[in-house]
Amino acid sequence: MPLPARCGTRGCHSRIPGCSSPPVIATAAHIRLASAESLGGVKILRRGYNFVDGTDGQGRLDAGPFFIAFVRDPARRFVPMQRTLSNNDVIMEYLEHTGPAVFACPPGLGPGSYWGQALLES
Ligand code: HEM
Repeated sequence: MPLPARCGTRGCHSRIPGCSSPPVIATAAHIRLASAESLGGVKILRRGYNFVDGTDGQGRLDAGPFFIAFVRDPARRFVPMQRTLSNNDVIMEYLEHTGPAVFACPPGLGPGSYWGQALLES
């Protein structure tokens, strides 16, 4: 369903100057809590996947979402976002978190460079 155009943003945030309308997105909604507007400008490059890996032997589906984010500074960007979501996001009622991992990921290659060069030669 399209959002009303008032205030110009999807969140109709009370912090938008001149915005006096009530929020059109619930205050505990995932997209509102995860938005840059709610997190002091923090943004991440993210990608979600679904997986289905059969059943667990008792007929329960082994399935769920698989989430990847690329960030320069996980402590400053990912962690505060994840903390806000795990404390307040109404979606948490439906989730069981099974495990995180952090990987160092060298930047892409330019002409004449090799993979990991910036890391190995710094
Ligand atoms: C079960 C796990 C999750 C589900 C089902 C989910 C689902 C969604 C959906 C449907 C949207 C709106 C559509 C879109 O912009 O792609 C969204 C937006 C977003 N999600 Fe998630 N998400 C999950 C986990 C996470 C996690 C773990 C983070 C980061 C810690 C995150 C960060 C974001 C951000 C930053 C947005 C964009 C907000 C904006 O547009 O301002 N999500 N998510």
